[in-house]
Amino acid sequence: MFRSSTFSINSLSAAKISGRFINVSPIFFQRATKQTPSFTKSITTSVMTEQKTEQKTLTHADENINPKTIELLNKQDKYTINTYNRPPIVLTKGKGCWVYDLADRKFLDFSAGIAVNALGHADAELASVIADQATKLIHLSNLYHNEYAGELAELLVNITKEGGGFEAARVFFSNSGTEANEGALKFARKWGKQVSKEGKEKYGVISYNNAFHGRTMGALSATPSPKYQAPFSPLVPGFVHSIYNDIEKIPEVVNENTCAVIVEPIQGEGGVWVATVDFLKALRKRCDEVNALLIFDEIQCGLGRTGKLWAHQHLPKSCHPDILTLAKPLANGFPIGAIITTEKVANIIKIGDHGTTFGGNPLACRAALSVVRRINTPELLSNVNSVGDYLVNEFKRLASKYPSLITNIRGKGLILGIQFTVDPTPLIGLARERGLLLITASNQTVRIIPPLILKKEEAQHGVKIIEEIVDIFDKQRSN
Ligand SMILES: Cc1ncc(COP(=O)(O)O)c(C=O)c1O
Repeated sequence: MFRSSTFSINSLSAAKISGRFINVSPIFFQRATKQTPSFTKSITTSVMTEQKTEQKTLTHADENINPKTIELLNKQDKYTINTYNRPPIVLTKGKGCWVYDLADRKFLDFSAGIAVNALGHADAELASVIADQATKLIHLSNLYHNEYAGELAELLVNITKEGGGFEAARVFFSNSGTEANEGALKFARKWGKQVSKEGKEKYGVISYNNAFHGRTMGALSATPSPKYQAPFSPLVPGFVHSIYNDIEKIPEVVNENTCAVIVEPIQGEGGVWVATVDFLKALRKRCDEVNALLIFDEIQCGLGRTGKLWAHQHLPKSCHPDILTLAKPLANGFPIGAIITTEKVANIIKIGDHGTTFGGNPLACRAALSVVRRINTPELLSNVNSVGDYLVNEFKRLASKYPSLITNIRGKGLILGIQFTVDPTPLIGLARERGLLLITASNQTVRIIPPLILKKEEAQHGVKIIEEIVDIFDKQRSN
């Protein structure tokens, strides 16, 4: 049972230190309490009287919020357009798989900036590459050539082909995943115009339930979730949604009017759902029949996360795409995305068709060169496989220990989903207050996407915390 009081001792003393906090904090707290179950818990100082062990392991309690943190949270609350539901910590530095907050508390990071920090935080080699390039050229625009964009494109094309990936030929650099998809959709629309039969319209784009392709209007139109789409309708015309892994529906939805199908080989945000080989084979076959492009969005599942460079390298050639989009870990957190295409797609894109001010800048490309070379090594990829296997086995063990809570473990390498029978959101706060950063995905899933350099001992530490919080959650539910 919970016993509650209104403020924690620490947050109350912080309130006394900062006069401004007294005025502003009720609004901040009100918003936070509405949105964050775990924060509600911290400011009502919920105390588990019956479970002393739970208190003992609460090493990073939200209620230990310090005055500087409160000051920064209040500024954020007052001056930014808040579209995120964030916990009351301010992170200031990192090292490897760990991040530190303002109070110098250390958290093990199982979220990696949403599958971004493949090489972990504050990587010394990358920091020196970025620092060196920053003293030379950060940005030029695409009006001029730089030393690194061509080299990065060559590397991406070559390692894709050498590693058994699709017939990559050319690359366009963007600044984010959404922008990579947006560009890929534009390429597909142009493809549709070029190959459509006289008088026929060919602009349909097919995407799938639980997909996430981004938040700009084109990418959003391919992201069929009412929570993302409804406030911004009407969306771009011509987008049709179908059911992931449903082979029977393919001939009906993918037809002569279709210019492209966009699909994640492993869906990330939607709950870590893995496409079947038969589904992707059938999509490839149907795209060939109707002359539509197949776009694989590997923004979350690509670049080493599944234990191979690309998720589609686990698949036979008969599944492979015409376009691949990537971003997230490409420069380990420095913003950059890319569209890789086959020669036939690249050939239809002409000067002036697409553009970007920042995309392909020397700093991002040089950083990405260094990151991609380090991700695409047998050592790192084998680490993903071995630590991933360890985690899968441990999560399966938890599933058999808590069968009424955990029903399935999905994913590959270090993109894993733990399927819960109830909304697992409270687990995120319970984990954070024990020094572990976890995130959820849709469909009652906890998503495990740590840095790819995660060590076995770090994985063990994370599992220990996860087991403990699942146990607490299970007991809370039955009380
Ligand atoms: C599969 C996938 N596509 C696209 C995006 C959008 O990428 P970004 O947030 O870099 O714009 C994401 C982001 O989570 C993603 O997971």
